[in-house]
Amino acid sequence: MLSRHLLPLAAAAVGISATTLDAVLDSQNATLSILNNYLTSQQELFNTLINTPNLTILAPSNDAINGLLASEAFSAQLQADPGILTAILKYHIFNGTYYTSNFTGAAAPVFVRTLMDNATYSNVTGGQRVEARAQDGGVAFTSGLREEAAVRTSNFNYTGGTVHVIDSVLAIPANLTATLQAANLTAAIGALRRAGVADSLGSGSEQLTVFAPSNGGFNAVGSLVAQMTAADLERVLGYHVVRGRVMYSDLIAAANGSRQAMQRGGDVEFRAVSDGEVALFVNSARVVGRDLLFDNGVIQVLDNVLNPANTSAAPNPAAATQAPAFSGANTSAGGVPFTSGVPGPSATGAGGAAPTATAAAPARTAALGVVALVGGAAVLVNL
Ligand SMILES: *[C@@H]1O[C@H](CO)[C@@H](O)[C@H](O)[C@H]1NC(C)=O
Ligand SMILES: *[C@@H]1O[C@H](CO)[C@@H](O)[C@H](O)[C@H]1NC(C)=O
Ligand SMILES: *[C@@H]1O[C@H](CO)[C@@H](O)[C@H](O)[C@H]1NC(C)=O
Ligand SMILES: *[C@@H]1O[C@H](CO)[C@@H](O)[C@H](O)[C@H]1NC(C)=O
Ligand SMILES: *[C@@H]1O[C@H](CO)[C@@H](O)[C@H](O)[C@H]1NC(C)=O
Ligand SMILES: *[C@@H]1O[C@H](CO)[C@@H](O)[C@H](O)[C@H]1NC(C)=O
Ligand SMILES: *[C@@H]1O[C@H](CO)[C@@H](O)[C@H](O)[C@H]1NC(C)=O
Ligand SMILES: *[C@@H]1O[C@H](CO)[C@@H](O)[C@H](O)[C@H]1NC(C)=O
Ligand SMILES: *[C@@H]1O[C@H](CO)[C@@H](O)[C@H](O)[C@H]1NC(C)=O
Ligand SMILES: *[C@@H]1O[C@H](CO)[C@@H](O)[C@H](O)[C@H]1NC(C)=O
Ligand SMILES: *[C@@H]1O[C@H](CO)[C@@H](O)[C@H](O)[C@H]1NC(C)=O
Ligand SMILES: *[C@@H]1O[C@H](CO)[C@@H](O)[C@H](O)[C@H]1NC(C)=O
Repeated sequence: MLSRHLLPLAAAAVGISATTLDAVLDSQNATLSILNNYLTSQQELFNTLINTPNLTILAPSNDAINGLLASEAFSAQLQADPGILTAILKYHIFNGTYYTSNFTGAAAPVFVRTLMDNATYSNVTGGQRVEARAQDGGVAFTSGLREEAAVRTSNFNYTGGTVHVIDSVLAIPANLTATLQAANLTAAIGALRRAGVADSLGSGSEQLTVFAPSNGGFNAVGSLVAQMTAADLERVLGYHVVRGRVMYSDLIAAANGSRQAMQRGGDVEFRAVSDGEVALFVNSARVVGRDLLFDNGVIQVLDNVLNPANTSAAPNPAAATQAPAFSGANTSAGGVPFTSGVPGPSATGAGGAAPTATAAAPARTAALGVVALVGGAAVLVNL
């Protein structure tokens, strides 16, 4: 096996007394030995890293990686697609040098570009994003299916950037349906299926913003939408999608007062209303769940269904709930529309790679075997 200790060209070029990435990682070997061993087996990738300036590397601790390896869901994913390991690693590398001081309060998340730009896993231009923000006196990251990771030790500077040690492995954002399901947005899934657009918005698509009404939002207009033809429903749902642009919450706040053309049915107006916290509205609907990252963009959850025949609907920001944007609509006697037969979050375990202690023994053996197979990181087996 080749050594990781190659001459870092970037450092040589800079010619200053510099700490190499190797030295930084080795200095933290007590907590990073699994990652270090894996990188040793990925010579080409590691060479690219040390020769690319201006990066931030999130280094999952040994405990973080062991937690992931104990997850049955991850084991199955890895078995089905060994190439995902490289994508996961690249999702942990930011384009740019971000010290922990670059992230401020919870109200000001940054959607950082990563090196994960493989179209098999994401079509977000500039690389799939990680949400970063200051939290509880430290820095926290949110990834796919709202998986959280916190910085344990930070700002290990090297010639090409900086390294932060994190306590959980980031999850590559899943596809649209899996992400909606994990958030219990079952009416949205059912509506997309009824309208016949679940596939066109699913994998294979360009980057998107999807404004997904909550189950309560669909319920409030159930008497109307449950009766719609597939074509009418498709027009309504298309009024919830921005094609070609991924609008994270910071962009929506910055778009205060401006309008955005939707895939179908004209444009919407964004509003940011400051009342201690900044509330965000799309027409009259309030954004009640922010920034669910999925493979091709982001989902913003609304408390109401948008009406393409009511593009001037405006919110009453003082009210806790907004009036439905469809006059004459009511709940439907049949309960939340479109949810029949649509599984909720518990059905998949899509809520994440949360390791369960009881499942540990068999899953872990399987996962380690696979890691040894794909990574050539035989050392992992000895844990
Ligand atoms: C890092 O730790 C692992 C496991 O304890 C050990 O096998 C390896 O030799 C260490 N590497 C360095 C550079 O200290
Ligand atoms: C993208 O991912 C696929 C599946 O893991 C892999 O086969 C392919 O080599 C990757 N492409 C690049 C450019 O890394
Ligand atoms: C980082 O982003 C810039 C664009 O701002 C791009 O030119 C560069 O290739 C990216 N770096 C990497 C390593 O992907
Ligand atoms: C480093 O990357 C950040 C984010 O992509 C960019 O804003 C900055 O200009 C880059 N700095 C250098 C020196 O390339
Ligand atoms: C991090 O913060 C410093 C100081 O404010 C700033 O100069 C730098 O551009 C920031 N880095 C990035 C990647 O935004
Ligand atoms: C890394 O560099 C940043 C920016 O210069 C600095 O704030 C931080 O203290 C450095 N980290 C260490 C451990 O010296
Ligand atoms: C979305 O992801 C789930 C879970 O990985 C998978 O079962 C499903 O087939 C995917 N759907 C599409 C349309 O790719
Ligand atoms: C999902 O939403 C439904 C309402 O449509 C609710 O009854 C159920 O309790 C929710 N499930 C979870 C796990 O939140
Ligand atoms: C990204 O777009 C390409 C080309 O349209 C497509 O083949 C691929 O499946 C898409 N990737 C995802 C994750 O949707
Ligand atoms: C949004 O724009 C309106 C109208 O210009 C303004 O009154 C309001 O303060 C802005 N909201 C924020 C959060 O700045
Ligand atoms: C438009 O939406 C408002 C709520 O913002 C609602 O009061 C009104 O009835 C709606 N108009 C139509 C024509 O649906
Ligand atoms: C709305 O529906 C509820 C029960 O679903 C019913 O009690 C109520 O009378 C309905 N209101 C109107 C205006 O139809």
